[in-house]
Amino acid sequence: MTAEAPTTAPVDVSVTATELVIDKDILVVDDEPSIRDMIALFLRRLGFVVDCAKDGKDALEQFAAKRYFLVITDVGMPGISGMDLLSEIKALATDGDPAPTDVIIVTGKSAEAVAVEALRRGAYDYFRKPFSFDAMRFTVQRLLERRRLRRQAHQVHTLQVRIDAEKSHAQQAVAALVEAVYAKDSYTRGHMERVGRIAAVLGKHMGRGDEEVEILYRAGTLHDIGKIGTPDLVLNKPASLTESEWETIRLHPVVGANILAPIRALEPVCSPVRCHHERWDGSGYPSKMAGKDIPESARILAVADVCDALHSDRAYRAGLPVETVRAIIHEGRGKLFDPEVCDCFQDLCDKQLIFEPMVGSAAERRVGDAEVAHPC
Ligand SMILES: [Fe+2]
Repeated sequence: MTAEAPTTAPVDVSVTATELVIDKDILVVDDEPSIRDMIALFLRRLGFVVDCAKDGKDALEQFAAKRYFLVITDVGMPGISGMDLLSEIKALATDGDPAPTDVIIVTGKSAEAVAVEALRRGAYDYFRKPFSFDAMRFTVQRLLERRRLRRQAHQVHTLQVRIDAEKSHAQQAVAALVEAVYAKDSYTRGHMERVGRIAAVLGKHMGRGDEEVEILYRAGTLHDIGKIGTPDLVLNKPASLTESEWETIRLHPVVGANILAPIRALEPVCSPVRCHHERWDGSGYPSKMAGKDIPESARILAVADVCDALHSDRAYRAGLPVETVRAIIHEGRGKLFDPEVCDCFQDLCDKQLIFEPMVGSAAERRVGDAEVAHPC
C-alpha cells in the first residue's frame, strides 16, 4: 500500500473541536507497518487517539475491548479480510445506537466492484491507493459532522418521545381531575366543552393560527377545573350566591392555573385559565387587570364563557335566549369585554356559528347586574 507522507502543516483545529469529546478513538488496520503508522501519525496530529492493528483478527480483539468511532482498514490482509472485518463491525452495532462505529475501506485494487461492495456492506467511504492525506482529513471532517447531526436528530427524536409520553400522562391526570369537577357539578361538563368550542371558533374567526386556536380550545375545556376546590353546596346552590360564597367561587381561576402549572405540556393554557374572569374595565378577578393587559386568549375565553353561561340552564336559573345573550354581550362591549372579540362574536352569531340548539327552557326573565358581570 502506498500513500502520500503526512504533511507537517499546522493541525486543522476544526477537526479537534467538541466532536472529539465523543468521537476521538480510531483504529487503523493494515498488515503493512509503515502504512498504518503513517496514517496513525497523521490522525494523531489532528488530535485523535489512534490504535493500530496488524490484521483483522487483531482488530476484532481490540474492537471487543474498546469503543472506536472509526475503523480505517486495508482490504487485502492475511486471515480476515478488510471486507469481512467491515461486516463483523457492522454486525456488532447496538440497536438504537444513533452513531455506531463507521468504517472506511482502503483498497489498492482499482476495481469499481470493491468500492461498490464496501458501500453495500455499510462502509462510510473508501480510499483508493494512492490517496492524499488532505482527502482523508476532509473525509473524517465530513464523517464527524454526519455523526454530530445523527446524534442531534436522535436527541430530538428521544425528546419528542419523552414529551409525547409526558403529554399523555398529563392528559390522563387532567382528564381525571376534569371528571372529578364534572362529578361535583354536572353542568360544568357541557359548559367547559362548549366554551372550548366557542373560544376556538372566535379565535379562528379573528385570524389566529392553528396553535393559538388549539390553545383556546384546550383552555376552554379546562377553564373551570379550579372548581374542584369549590364546595359542592356553593356550586349547586339553587339560589343566588351570598358575597362570601362568591368569594369562594372567585378562587377557582387561580386554583385551576395552579393545578395546571406543573404540567409543561399545558403551560400555554395556564394564563387564559387564570385570567378568564378578568374584565376589560378592570372589574374582574383575580388581579383586576384591564384592557390589553389581559392576555388576548383570556379576553376571548371571557366572551365564550359568559355567552355559554348565560345561554345555559343553571341550578339556580334557566338559560337565556340567544337574542338576550347577544344584547348582554353587546352591552358589555368595551366595558366588560374586548370590543374586537365582541364584534367577532356578533358576526359569528349572525352566521349562526356560535350557539348550539337550545337544550334548556330559555325562559324570559330579569337578569341582575352581578350575573351579567360574573355569570359563570
Ligand atoms: Fe370560570
